[in-house]
Amino acid sequence: MIIEPRMRGFICLTSHTKGCEQSVLNQIDFVKSKGEIDGPKKVLVIGASTGFGLASRITSAFGSNAATIGVFFEKAPQAGKTASPGWYNSAAFQQEAKKAGLYAKSINGDAFSDEIKAKTIALIKEDLGQIDLVIYSLASPVRVHPKTGVTHRSVLKPIGQTYTNKTVDFHTGVVSEISIAPCTDEDIDNTVAVMGGEDWQMWMDELLKAGAIADGAKTVAYSYIGPSLTEAVYRKGTIGKAKDHLEATAFKITESLKSVNGEAYVSVNKALVTQASSAIPVIPLYISLLYKVMKEKGIHEGCIEQIQRLFAERLYTSGEIATDEAGRIRIDDWEMREDVQNAVAELWSKASTETLPELGDLAGYKSDFLNLFGFGFDGIDYLADVNEQTEIEGLQ
Ligand code: NAI
Ligand code: NA
Repeated sequence: MIIEPRMRGFICLTSHTKGCEQSVLNQIDFVKSKGEIDGPKKVLVIGASTGFGLASRITSAFGSNAATIGVFFEKAPQAGKTASPGWYNSAAFQQEAKKAGLYAKSINGDAFSDEIKAKTIALIKEDLGQIDLVIYSLASPVRVHPKTGVTHRSVLKPIGQTYTNKTVDFHTGVVSEISIAPCTDEDIDNTVAVMGGEDWQMWMDELLKAGAIADGAKTVAYSYIGPSLTEAVYRKGTIGKAKDHLEATAFKITESLKSVNGEAYVSVNKALVTQASSAIPVIPLYISLLYKVMKEKGIHEGCIEQIQRLFAERLYTSGEIATDEAGRIRIDDWEMREDVQNAVAELWSKASTETLPELGDLAGYKSDFLNLFGFGFDGIDYLADVNEQTEIEGLQ
């Protein structure tokens, strides 16, 4: 089968196994090029197949020789249908881990469920005994609550008043004005239920109860803040309430990890093109301007550069972990630099369908978006037949 990108709205319906493999290989090469990190040895990554979670798994394994267990929710290939990219990424990761003699196993299923938690913890107990780092990197629009059975759906809306601003359809490059009506109270509760900290806490409670957390272990979840431009729809919107909850949960988890001298952190990461962020209105326009500015200043990073820096310069240095006034690790420091934000704000005011190709890095946005699905990589023959029978080694 020859696989081409097939776009529908914010998603791509197809993905390319060879290209996803290339993306994983590139990330592994990057991590190796930065040298060894005196980091974790037994790592659980929840949300391990794409974006920041995949980068965390790769950094743990290939930067710190860690054994990794990855949990994710991906679709296997079916007759006439490609797998979701995280499936191919994980297949490639597992293959490379095996070649390198690194322990790696994967679990595909709903991380919000009791069943997947129990399965993961049984695997840890059997194979690794204890974990010294848990990365929590889920991004999901929906969560079935394991105790109530209620299905919660997250929304991306402002709170209190309608938000109107520019947005771009990154496929066509058309810049238009979008108005997003304010959410209901129920929307806030639902978004907090999906993207807040409750599930992270549940994972850590279960792991601790099972004796699966090593002495001095760390756990890290990922958050975002961003500029005032996007505040109404992001940090002060429904998703921001969920991030507030996630950040507050870190303190609670640290409290419950006292018995094993463990610590929970939130790391605030940079805005990047991932499947999760491309669905948020306004953010793609912001990202295309941000990329332009950060690339010009030579400080652009992708997920793997961000997470390699998180491990090497924040989490695993000697001495205390540097945090901000709210106790958060900041690797969005370069994004939030005053010179960067001033430049983005100026471009923002001038951005239109006509000016964006020049002012913004729309090409970089599109290329990153295609890359998420394994398209647009150098060295891949996209006209060649690909074998869709990809299996994930070590899948439980
Ligand atoms: P992503 O969409 O690339 O990754 C999501 C991961 O969660 C995938 O591995 C997916 O399989 C897994 N997943 C989703 N639902 C699941 C379920 N029910 N059970 C098991 N696994 C499930 O997203 P991304 O962007 O890497 O996001 C990860 C975290 O980073 C999120 O908390 C996000 O808010 C945060 N973040 C993202 C930023 C961005 O610009 N993309 C910036 C800063 C933080
Ligand atoms: Na992730």
